Amino acid sequence: MFKHAQLESVKAWITDPAHGALPLHARIQRAIRQLILDGVLEVGKPLPASRALAQSLGVSRDTVEGAYSQLHAEGFIDRHVGSGSFVSERAQVSPKRRTGQHPRSEPARLSRRGAAMFQSGGVRETPIPRAFAPGVPETRSFPLPIWERLERQVLKEYGTMALAHSDPQGVEALRRAIADYVNLERGARATFERVLVLTSSQQALSLCASVLLDAGDRIFLEDPVYHGARRAFDAAGLECVPVPLDTQGLRVERLQDAAQPAKAVFLTPSHQFPTGATLALDRRLAIIEWAHRNQAWIIEDDYDSEFHYAGKPMACMQGLDAHDRTIYIGTFTKSMFPGLRLAYMVLPPALVAPMTVARTLQDGHSASIPQLTLARFMEGGHFGSHVRTMRSLYNARRDLLEQLVRAHLSDFLEVRVPIGGMQMPCILIKDIPEREAIDTARRAGVDLLGLTALHASNKHKAGFLMGFAAYTPKEMEIAAKKLANVLRALDR
Ligand SMILES: Cc1ncc(COP(=O)(O)O)c(C=O)c1O
Repeated sequence: MFKHAQLESVKAWITDPAHGALPLHARIQRAIRQLILDGVLEVGKPLPASRALAQSLGVSRDTVEGAYSQLHAEGFIDRHVGSGSFVSERAQVSPKRRTGQHPRSEPARLSRRGAAMFQSGGVRETPIPRAFAPGVPETRSFPLPIWERLERQVLKEYGTMALAHSDPQGVEALRRAIADYVNLERGARATFERVLVLTSSQQALSLCASVLLDAGDRIFLEDPVYHGARRAFDAAGLECVPVPLDTQGLRVERLQDAAQPAKAVFLTPSHQFPTGATLALDRRLAIIEWAHRNQAWIIEDDYDSEFHYAGKPMACMQGLDAHDRTIYIGTFTKSMFPGLRLAYMVLPPALVAPMTVARTLQDGHSASIPQLTLARFMEGGHFGSHVRTMRSLYNARRDLLEQLVRAHLSDFLEVRVPIGGMQMPCILIKDIPEREAIDTARRAGVDLLGLTALHASNKHKAGFLMGFAAYTPKEMEIAAKKLANVLRALDR
């Protein structure tokens, strides 16, 4: 028979709502298994007869029999006809575990790479964005009925074929739509054979870091830089060398004059993250020349060029590069919606096979149904029309945020109105600690990204990168007023 405490422990386990999804016999089996694993029921100990246990628990004998059969099948108990069931020798537990308690969770021993990734904090985004979290598109007005109709068409047409594995390089229809789009809108030199469809630009950055560079290799980064890129390169063990910027973008002479060359440079040339600078044409050409001379790679992250508010953005660098040293990265996170998880690289021909094979080691391929649906969304002109609608919405929201900052926050912040994108850098002009302002604002319901953490050098001004694309005028006005109160209180 079980001791009173043991019986109570089984009862507590089976009535715990957390275990409610399991059938009763499985709950009893798990409860007894736990007593064995915790060393409470030692090797050789008899288990109660199934009829007796069924009575004590108020369940049928069959239910207990089901639990005992499973324990027997898994090797936790031995059953002898006539003499009953006993804890099996095979279930012998180490004395360390025999505390009767669950082991305290200690920090896992990670590899150096794993520890570096963990400590970096990664690039987790908020599921429900609040003003002024940057880089988030408006999803509340996304044309879902069109998406739903196209997805239904895909399922009808492809049937169960849409459920199978697909090409790791990406569905051909989508690669063709992407190549047409970047050629037309971004002045790229793409063919569908050079497009690799991925889950995110973050995946593209990790692939570049591991396929093109070895741990310890040097890579030039813009300073300040997109934190997702910096963390991907740090995680791969690269030596990140910050290169300062001015109003024309990256100070290219720093690459040319560097005592030690680097194997790659990471750039956001159409709309530098976070300053918003556009890389000047002469510098683009000089960087392409530098890459050609040094056989280095240019990693071009063209993350939000769909949203340019003063005419067309400058064509991408990939289209200017006759030497095939540029890897162009685009994402649908901003132009469509973040949950889509589709992005792409336009690769030099020689990198298509190595990058495609490398991605099969990560996730095989991107999900087929969203790829097929997106291809139709693009082919049908819905992508172009959605981007145009969002462009004019974001343009108005950018102007509104500028007005709100001038009206409510001008004692504290100086705006740097961007010519494109979804966020506005604002410089703190009062001696208020940036970190404290961010933390206090968060508690007051306002999200901000600090500029300081994006810089490698400490010769910079503190401030915030304030998103405007995803928030209605009312939401932005409320947040601006709250932020003004926060900064006023900290300024005292
Ligand atoms: C510069 C830059 N690149 C890439 C991304 C993220 O794109 P994805 O969701 O495709 O990783 C962001 C998102 O904020 C970004 O700011």
